[in-house]
Amino acid sequence: MSKTISGFSKLSKSKKIDWIVNTYFSNTEEAKQVLKQYWSNNEKLQQLHDEFIENTITNYYLPLGVAPNFLINNTIYTIPMAIEESSVVAAASKAAKFWLDRGGFKTKVISTTKIGQVHFMYYGDFNKLQSFFERVKSKLIKQAKPITKNMEARGGGILDIELRDKTEGIKGYYQLHASFETLDAMGANFINSCLEQFAETFKNEALLFDGFSEEEKQIQIVMSILSNYVPDCLVRAEVSCKVEDLNEDNSISAEDFANKFIQAVNIAEIEPYRAVTHNKGIMNGIDAVVLATGNDFRAVEAGVHAYASRNGKYSSLTHAKIEDGIFYFWMEIPLALGTVGGLTGLHPLVKLALELLRKPSAKELMQIVAVAGLAQNFAALRSLTTTGIQQGHMKMHLMNILNQFEASDNEKILLTDHFKTNTVTHSAVVKAIEKLRNGA
Ligand code: MEV
Repeated sequence: MSKTISGFSKLSKSKKIDWIVNTYFSNTEEAKQVLKQYWSNNEKLQQLHDEFIENTITNYYLPLGVAPNFLINNTIYTIPMAIEESSVVAAASKAAKFWLDRGGFKTKVISTTKIGQVHFMYYGDFNKLQSFFERVKSKLIKQAKPITKNMEARGGGILDIELRDKTEGIKGYYQLHASFETLDAMGANFINSCLEQFAETFKNEALLFDGFSEEEKQIQIVMSILSNYVPDCLVRAEVSCKVEDLNEDNSISAEDFANKFIQAVNIAEIEPYRAVTHNKGIMNGIDAVVLATGNDFRAVEAGVHAYASRNGKYSSLTHAKIEDGIFYFWMEIPLALGTVGGLTGLHPLVKLALELLRKPSAKELMQIVAVAGLAQNFAALRSLTTTGIQQGHMKMHLMNILNQFEASDNEKILLTDHFKTNTVTHSAVVKAIEKLRNGA
């Protein structure tokens, strides 16, 4: 059977599934069953999911967990996290509890500016382009008024538009580089609509500009799109306490722990191989909250990693130091988030997650998400520099291995108990299951 098809999107859901299972699966009934078991019995909810994207055949579940006890600027939060990795929520909860007793997390939004660009080609005299831009700038803003009116009434809108000469990189390449304040909206649609309007106005006005030759009037718009690089949409999160208060168990002194922790951060600051993994751990926390609150984690990922290389070398997002006997650990990251628009009012779990966070503004959400990232990094470095990561990780992974072997509830109880005092490795779990099942 042909593995390609035309008109697929026009088929009904059940016809789409029929085609997929008949084309790609030997056990068609089993494959259908796997897909169907994730359908919701609630027809309205299922329809909502069906209509989020094209060609929906089922729903893809991720666990939604919560990490309680986060003290952020003197307010307690329980943070929702959507993630599949076993140890992430446990680590966040542990870090939250640790800092709850040590003053909690302090955060601050530094800036909230977002960027969009109209990329265009012009092969004439730059001075003429500049005077055309100065002449047309107010019209660009005016003709976008139908799009910006509501946002402006709420205090946001277009902040500025600059003409940027990029001809050093590509002959004839220029930009309209625009900045925006989008308040509680992530603002992608708002920004892109404004940009497309700028492009239209810019192109049309060029045709009428007397200062241009006939050739110069032919400005070519290449594309109009927001940037997910948002170094001026920045939030800071930090924790601090007396070095001696870092002591939690007897395995390592507070001072040794603080020094080792700072060494680990310093390594991530100078060594890209380590920095990528270090920052990946931060993103474990960030993505989980971004996803739970219906935001675009790909946009956040792209922007954060670009920011991590802003000085020309990929580096750690977090920093740590000891000053006057105080341990400081902090991070500044760009986060373009929304708490209105997009999925936020549509997806029932996203609505619930935002309510759990007391319906935050976008600025408040930036701070909560940054804390989740910092907490995650703290938990990871704490394990890495003391017990090693595998001890906690494998404990959490135990349930995955047991499920892989279809352990019964009783087997799970017995084996979880057994591994409270034994080291979890894949082979040790397999052996223990076999032993239990063979009645040994
Ligand atoms: C695993 O998902 C994340 C860590 O590797 C992060 C780190 O190494 O800092 C534990």
